[in-house]
Amino acid sequence: MKVSVTTISISELDVDLLLIPMMEEQADGTLADLADSFGGSFRRAAPDFSGDAGTSVLLYPERGSARRVALLGLGSAEKLSGEALRMAAAEGARLAGVAKVETVGVALAAQETLEVEYVAQSVVEGFLLGAYRFDQYRTESEAPAPVARLVLQTSENDKAVRRGAERGRVISEAVATARDLVNTSPNDKTPTLLAKAMEKSAKKYNYLASVWNKELIEEEQMGGLLAVNLGSQEPPTFTVLEWMPDNRRNERPVVLVGKGVVFDTGGLSLKPTKDSMDAMKSDMAGAAAVIGAVEAVARLELPLYVIGLIPATDNRPGENAYVPGDVIKMHSGKTVEVLNTDAEGRMILADALSYAKTYNPEVCIDLATLTGAAVIALGHHAAAVMTSEGPDADELLAPLKAAGERSGERVHQLPMFEEYGEQIKSTVADIKNVGGRAAGSITAGKFLEHFVSYPWIHIDIAGPSFLKEAKPYKPVGGTGFGVRLLVEYLRDYADRKRG
Ligand code: BES
Ligand code: MN
Ligand code: ZN
Repeated sequence: MKVSVTTISISELDVDLLLIPMMEEQADGTLADLADSFGGSFRRAAPDFSGDAGTSVLLYPERGSARRVALLGLGSAEKLSGEALRMAAAEGARLAGVAKVETVGVALAAQETLEVEYVAQSVVEGFLLGAYRFDQYRTESEAPAPVARLVLQTSENDKAVRRGAERGRVISEAVATARDLVNTSPNDKTPTLLAKAMEKSAKKYNYLASVWNKELIEEEQMGGLLAVNLGSQEPPTFTVLEWMPDNRRNERPVVLVGKGVVFDTGGLSLKPTKDSMDAMKSDMAGAAAVIGAVEAVARLELPLYVIGLIPATDNRPGENAYVPGDVIKMHSGKTVEVLNTDAEGRMILADALSYAKTYNPEVCIDLATLTGAAVIALGHHAAAVMTSEGPDADELLAPLKAAGERSGERVHQLPMFEEYGEQIKSTVADIKNVGGRAAGSITAGKFLEHFVSYPWIHIDIAGPSFLKEAKPYKPVGGTGFGVRLLVEYLRDYADRKRG
């Protein structure tokens, strides 16, 4: 979709559908004003439109250049937020789909609380993410042609609006990359194919991707990744993504690690199908988020050195599969007693995290669909975030929490008290890979902590990464959760580096 910015008046904006987002407080007065430009129906519409968040009214103006006008409710001025703007714009995208329009305009709301750059970014995100469809596999497409052009109309500071709109477009496209990868069918998503997708993205957007094959993974002694892969017919891959611009403000990189289990059957500790294995093509959503984030970072040319690490395999009960009771020597040299082959994510992440040490990272963030317990704790509205207990924990997490609020991809912290570590003590090896039902997300975090020796943040995205019921700008399937969060975090990280 093309996105542009104009300063011509709304009555002259020649579009199939003009969206006018409005706060509750504005509704009455604005409709009276709009009647001058568009005709009397706007005055008569006033009783039908309160400006409540999520509501809309569609009108066919008697005057002006727009064929249709939709009033979109933003809720109260007091609660105006990026999320309210995204939701309203998504409602606009829904209406655009119903009317099958080609061109859409948005009149940017006049308001004092949010910077216009952020307003423009949020509106573009809401519209583009709301318009996202995945129909790669449909042969009988009922889908209308997508909207070709989105025009933001503003009366002031169009430079800032342009910057925000462009950023919103790039980020939304990166989210679509992540969604597409998650939504791709498991039979089209081997570790090798996932690695190929990364090479393609790297080439297109001018960053680096180097793919290790099984031999290299063996040489590097990634025992966790190799153990999980034993039951598979497909070799594992380990992919290193690199964005290292000349104007980077950090000498040591920010390292992002994404869980790339392309399909999780549970292995010999087999999952039941319904509401469990049937969603496990999404078990590489952490990888998808990292790929989308690096893609966006490169396209936005952030002045930061960023590394992405993607260990990838499926987890299957093939005849050579690892078994409960196996003791595995990991990349770090530590030994793990496997008591449940379905706790595979931590096995492959552990190797990536200990390999990350070779970069001497300033901070390392991993994203993983790691535990069902995270879904039980937080549902689909937030990811669980953890870091090592200590004096620096708050300072490390504060910027991530702030990025969560601003991007609409929220994180909620779980504790990592020492006591939880006792649940993963093994009688035969250094640690075991399961800690029982109690605090399942935390014991997974405690497991990963054994392989980390630098500032580290763990994000369990099992809940928000995949939906079985649609939300305003998130259709059923992969949400791309993590892309917007990471990009916002990294943009702020670069700002802080400027001093
Ligand atoms: N990929 C799953 C976690 C998951 C569950 C993600 C539901 C998304 C939705 C992970 O590999 C897993 O199977 N975890 C086990 C761990 C247990 C065996 C300790 C779980 O959560 O049940
Ligand atoms: Mn599993
Ligand atoms: Zn898994």
